Order: sequence, then structure tokens, then C-alpha cells
Amino acid sequence: MASRQRVTILGATGSIGQSTADVLALHADAFAVDTLVAWRNTEVMQQLMQRLQPRCVVMTDEQAAASLLAPCQSLGIELQSGMEAAIDAAADARSDIVVAAMVGAAGLPATLAAVAQGKHVCLANKECLVTAGRLFMQTAATAGARITPVDSEHAAVHQALCGHDRQGMRKIILTASGGPFRNRSLASLADVTPEEAVAHPNWDMGAKISVDSASMMNKALELIEAHWLFDVPASQLDAIIHPQSIVHAMVEYQDGSVLAQLAMPDMRSPIAYALRPELRLASGIPWLELASQQPLEFMAIDEQRFPAMRLVREVMRGEDVLPVVFNAANEVANAAFRQRRIRFVDMLPLVEQALSLASDGRLDTLDAVWALDRQTRLQTEELIARA
Ligand SMILES: NC(=O)c1ccc[n+]([C@@H]2O[C@H](COP(=O)([O-])OP(=O)(O)OC[C@H]3O[C@@H](n4cnc5c(N)ncnc54)[C@H](OP(=O)(O)O)[C@@H]3O)[C@@H](O)[C@H]2O)c1
Repeated sequence: MASRQRVTILGATGSIGQSTADVLALHADAFAVDTLVAWRNTEVMQQLMQRLQPRCVVMTDEQAAASLLAPCQSLGIELQSGMEAAIDAAADARSDIVVAAMVGAAGLPATLAAVAQGKHVCLANKECLVTAGRLFMQTAATAGARITPVDSEHAAVHQALCGHDRQGMRKIILTASGGPFRNRSLASLADVTPEEAVAHPNWDMGAKISVDSASMMNKALELIEAHWLFDVPASQLDAIIHPQSIVHAMVEYQDGSVLAQLAMPDMRSPIAYALRPELRLASGIPWLELASQQPLEFMAIDEQRFPAMRLVREVMRGEDVLPVVFNAANEVANAAFRQRRIRFVDMLPLVEQALSLASDGRLDTLDAVWALDRQTRLQTEELIARA
């Protein structure tokens, strides 16, 4: 029997991390868990430790790590703490595959460390590519890293591109559900609560991405992600609303054919694909019964309702600075909305203001990316405080 591939999960306690655990549990003969990394959710981490029996656990929060000392000792699991330990775990030679599922740009250093070691990286953390797409893809090419997308739309594109000459490709079309506010009156958007915004109609996801989905910022970030992952210019990238979230993306070819990937909206399917694309592993999701589905609908995105789609076009016309500002300002605005410090409708104007303060240009080092990320976060907090 071939030896099992060893998997490290960055962001193990989150929505993607736990769905990855479900898929790995289905294939215990093919995968072993090396390291589980999270921030401070010790309750879920303890459940994962029992279930997956990792070699090592890293909590980036020191206190959280301290509270896992006894359970790790009793299970014979190595325990580490701090972000440096997370970065070391991502680069550790004992793992073959790294599932990058931390949320936000905070996931960039560890994910980039895995890429620099030439690992197979299953990438959920789209903010990495939005923030440092050029450096990330250059590092991957130099190190020979394999990057497989976990985001359902990008996993769908990956499949629809497979085996076809790029010359024949006309356009990539990502689908968007439209989120919980697709049909809500524009005037009433000022009053939506964080609870309403995270209640996604089709997907069960973490809080940050759920709010991003409600504002369509998620789709905007995904367009930038697709640009870097598939080396496709903005002019060949599009998005369309598909409320049922059954068709995850489409690739249109010069001969007029459109190849789409369909599946029930459940992240276990793209995760199973990303882990071993060539094997089409079982994922445990329900079968798609098209005859008993609601009709599949498609419609154009209204940019007045979803200004993120207008803004991302400007951002994609620029170089490296604008995407960093776009992402960092959004992370601050998204968190401020969830903390009830600003309204839902304040998020995109804040991002737009932050963009208007930036001068675009190239960023050739990670230090330059971080300096701009930090400066944008401070500026956006100031804008919130002044409002
Ligand atoms: N959820 C989805 O369906 C979905 C679909 C496509 C793409 N994605 C992408 O996947 C990523 C994760 O999304 P999610 O929905 O799974 O998020 P989530 O449920 O909020 O989980 C985030 C994970 O990241 C960890 N984390 C956050 N900050 C950290 C830090 N400083 N150090 C170490 N760990 C940290 C969290 O640890 P604690 O639990 O300890 O706080 C948690 O394990 C995002 O980039 C998102 O855009 C998600």
C-alpha cells in the first residue's frame, strides 16, 4: 500500500478546517494529519485532536496554547504556540499537503512559507492572493509548489480548464448566489444586522466571508484570486448571479461551448478535489438530483446594489498597491460591521475612501506589502473614528 500523504491544516477550527477534517476522516487510508493550526478556539481544537490524532497542534494565541497543555500531553501530541510556530509548521518537511484556511491576510506568512517549500497547497485563503498575488505566484513557480483551489468557484474553473488549450479560452465566469440581500429593498440595507448578513441562503461559512458574500465583496476578491491563479486578465473574467449555487463557475471557449461544473453547495466537494484532483475522491456531500432541484436561474449583477463589483474593476486596472488597500480596508470595515461599529452600507464607501487615498504602484517585497497593509488598517480605523 502506498504511504499516506501527510496533511497540515492552517485554520483547522474554522468552517473550511472542519470540512477538511470531515473529508480526511473519509480517507484515513490515504491521508494522515501532521499539524493542526488555529488561533484560540480550544474547544473545537480538542474535538479535532481526538478525531484526527495529529502529530502536532499549534495555537497562535499563547493563552489558548497553555490551556491545551494537559490534553496534548495525555494524547501524546506535540504543542506549539505563536505565529512563528505556525509558519514553521506550514514549512515543515513532515507534511506533504498544506490546507491554507486561515481567514484574512493573517494567513499569508504561513501559506507563503508552505509555497516557498514547494508543497502542495490547497488554497482556501483567497486574501493571500489578493494581498500578494504577484509574490505568491512567483514564489510558487520558483519553488515548484502545486496550488489547487479550494474556493468552489475556482475549483470549478480548474476542472473546466483541464485538458484545454488556453488559446481557445474566451472567458471565465464565476457565479455568485447574490447572498441574503439580493432582493431586499436598497433603502432597508441601512438597517441590516450582522446576524442577518451572516445568514447565507446556501452556504454555511465563517462570519467574515459570510458578510463579504452579502456585500458581494467576496466575489470581487474572487475575481482577483482568479486573475492570479489562472493567469487571466481582468477583461476575460466575469461574474453572474446564480441564486441556487449549483453551477459554481463556467469557462467559455472560442467555439461557443461553455463548460460548467455543478455540485450541491457543500465545501467538502471542492476540498476533496483540491486534495487529490486526479482521483475524484468521495467527499460525502449529497448527490445532485437535478430533476428535483428548483430551476437554475442566472442574472446580471446590479452594481448599484453591489458597489464592490464596480470598485474591483478599478482595482484590477491597477498594480499591486490597490488590491492590498482594497483587502485591508475591507477586513477592517467587515470586522467593524460585525462589531456593530458601522452599518452594512458604510463598508464599501469606507473601502472606496481608502482606495482614493492610495497611490498605485508595484510592491516587490513582502515587507512592502505588510507596511501598506498596516497603514491601510490604521487609516481605515481613523476614517471610522472620524465618521
Ligand atoms: N467557509 C467557506 O465556505 C469558504 C469558502 C471559500 C473560501 N473560504 C476562505 O477560506 C478561509 C477561511 O474561511 P472560513 O469560513 O473557514 O473562516 P472561519 O470559519 O472564520 O475560520 C477561520 C480559521 O482561521 C483561524 N485563524 C484566524 N486568525 C488566525 C490567526 N491569527 N492565527 C491562526 N489561526 C487563525 C481561526 O482560528 P480560531 O477558530 O481559533 O479563531 C479558524 O480556524 C477564508 O479566507 C475564506 O475566504 C471559505
